Amino acid sequence: MNKKLTVVGLGPGNLDYLTRAGMNQIKEAEIVIGGERQLEEVESILNNQTVYIMKKLDKMKSFVLENLTKNIVFIVSGDTGYYSLLTYLKKSFPEQSFNVIPGISSFQYLFSKIEMTWEHYQLCSVHGRENNYIEIFNNSVSGVVLLTDEKNNPIEISKNLIEKGIFDAEIIVGERLSYTDEIITRFLVKDYKDYDKKYEMNVTIIRKV
Ligand SMILES: C[S@@+](CC[C@H](N)C(=O)[O-])C[C@H]1O[C@@H](n2cnc3c(N)ncnc32)[C@H](O)[C@@H]1O
Repeated sequence: MNKKLTVVGLGPGNLDYLTRAGMNQIKEAEIVIGGERQLEEVESILNNQTVYIMKKLDKMKSFVLENLTKNIVFIVSGDTGYYSLLTYLKKSFPEQSFNVIPGISSFQYLFSKIEMTWEHYQLCSVHGRENNYIEIFNNSVSGVVLLTDEKNNPIEISKNLIEKGIFDAEIIVGERLSYTDEIITRFLVKDYKDYDKKYEMNVTIIRKV
């Protein structure tokens, strides 16, 4: 009989932020699937599970279809509900039941570090996609959260704001959050040239000031 597919949100990366429910699911799994970074993080809690490093989605899909009778756990970064593989999995395995264990999103972690709440912020992403985040300056939100990538990074975001004539904004960048080399930087958009970007992996908040 087919088993439920389990999806676990790892949190920002450091295992201290993985929920106990998520950890138990990973320990009980027969097969653990994830990206290289996610699998490296959980290595210390694995016993004899088969580990599948996800590279090509169609190959991963075939592998899963061949193993539906096994207890499969997917590990995704951050929260399962914010730009995660869950959307693809639900579409690709429409007949399957799912067990989804949420995690702490990278942006939630960042807000906690800067001691702020996020209920008045819009949640977006420019990770592998475009987003017209400038629109927030025409509405009443306090700012916007952006998952970034190599191209759409905090420097490009700052330049874009300046080009559009927006100077009244603070940029808050959280790099490699929860790791020992985590860096959190805050600067006014006009001072973006002083910002020294270190890592690709970051989440950026634009805060209206
Ligand atoms: C595919 S998205 C997944 C987002 C994830 N579901 C979440 O809730 O954080 C990957 C993006 O999340 C952000 N991210 C994930 N973990 C991070 C971390 N530890 N530090 C900084 N940014 C992180 C980066 O913007 C990265 O490009």
